[in-house]
Amino acid sequence: MENLIGKHFVITGGTSGLGYALTKVLLERGAKVTLLVRSMTKFKQTFFPHNTHLLQAVQCDLNSAEQIKRLDFAHATINGLIHSAGLGYFKSISAHSEEEMLETYRINVVHFNILLNHLAHSFSEHPYIIGISSLAAHSTQAHSGHYAASKAAFNQVLNTYRLEHPNYHILTVNAGPIRTPFHAKADPTLKYATQVDKLMLDPDKLANQIIIYMLRNKAELNAPKWLNSLLKLYQLAPRKLERAFPKLFNNKKE
Ligand SMILES: NC(=O)c1ccc[n+]([C@@H]2O[C@H](COP(=O)([O-])OP(=O)(O)OC[C@H]3O[C@@H](n4cnc5c(N)ncnc54)[C@H](OP(=O)(O)O)[C@@H]3O)[C@@H](O)[C@H]2O)c1
Repeated sequence: MENLIGKHFVITGGTSGLGYALTKVLLERGAKVTLLVRSMTKFKQTFFPHNTHLLQAVQCDLNSAEQIKRLDFAHATINGLIHSAGLGYFKSISAHSEEEMLETYRINVVHFNILLNHLAHSFSEHPYIIGISSLAAHSTQAHSGHYAASKAAFNQVLNTYRLEHPNYHILTVNAGPIRTPFHAKADPTLKYATQVDKLMLDPDKLANQIIIYMLRNKAELNAPKWLNSLLKLYQLAPRKLERAFPKLFNNKKE
């Protein structure tokens, strides 16, 4: 596959899960990578198997708009921005604390926007913008309301951005469950993760697929495909299906 020597990517969420897998793929292909990390200690403890001389990290807690706006890429050219940082709390809407609710929208959508605007001056002419979203953007369930809403908003921002910047290659990745530390944070009881264990996507395989889609200038990657097709059916009669198959819409709660 095509190498990425000389290309510079900025990645959020690169110290864990899918963002970590994407970082490994890009480094292996010879890209220069800058990670935005909230913890330099965690970054230093994270093992990257390939081309670590091409890797650097900059401290930035994405919860803080001030820290994002202090990032200085004035003398750098950015060929790609990957927003993989993200989180959700799998609990009822009423059980979310105010801070959990705000954090979900900040990291998943609002502060991504602030980051995008802030870095735009350093983008190359045809930058890749990859947003790691979720199939939850297509359909909500009990106990994932704010997560699904934030991802739906994220997708619409990316779709609008694609229309407003035709010279950008924007790829939205809508993923089903992925085998990452995300689940232990979203629901420490791991009830949902246990239910969907057999369906979990492998982050390394998904990362490779994302880079292939990126290089082909695709606009969307939905994985797994069968789950995305089911969700398309759901769009045809959402309220009827919610009544007919209540279990499917409550499996984050049970
Ligand atoms: N796992 C799934 O089942 C699944 C399914 C669909 C979509 N997704 C989406 O995939 C993306 C990647 O998630 P993942 O599964 O790889 O989860 P993960 O392993 O929990 O990784 C999340 C990353 O986000 C970073 N992050 C969170 N808050 C941050 C903050 N305030 N400042 C800076 N970085 C912050 C974390 O930093 P630390 O390393 O410091 O914790 C971590 O690197 C997310 O957007 C998620 O919504 C996940």
